[in-house]
Amino acid sequence: MSIYSELILDHYQNPRNFGKITHKSNKTHKSHVSNPLCGDEIEMELIIDKGVIKEIKFQGKGCAISLASASMVTEFLKGKPKEQLQKLDKKSIIKLLGIELGVNRIKCALLPLEALKKLSK
Ligand code: FES
Repeated sequence: MSIYSELILDHYQNPRNFGKITHKSNKTHKSHVSNPLCGDEIEMELIIDKGVIKEIKFQGKGCAISLASASMVTEFLKGKPKEQLQKLDKKSIIKLLGIELGVNRIKCALLPLEALKKLSK
């Protein structure tokens, strides 16, 4: 039996918005972060147009929690005003995941958030 919810496992096994942006209109923002404890990595790419997150993609290698968190947060952000990026915090990620996490696992869950906070053009 798994310690994670079905929703988390589903996002891990079928990640939403996984891959790279291949649109003709190129990505406008990107970032790359890694968790120094395990070496896992997340890369984010976005198209922000007229203040709206038109496209958001991620790729990388990570554990179930980091990839599920990336999948959930990209699904949440797609189509939203770009101000949502500033509003996102630890609490929002925990809410999306829907479970309480220990000290080590929380670092995994927050890796995609770290990537979103480090976006550059
Ligand atoms: Fe590496 Fe979770 S174990 S991000």
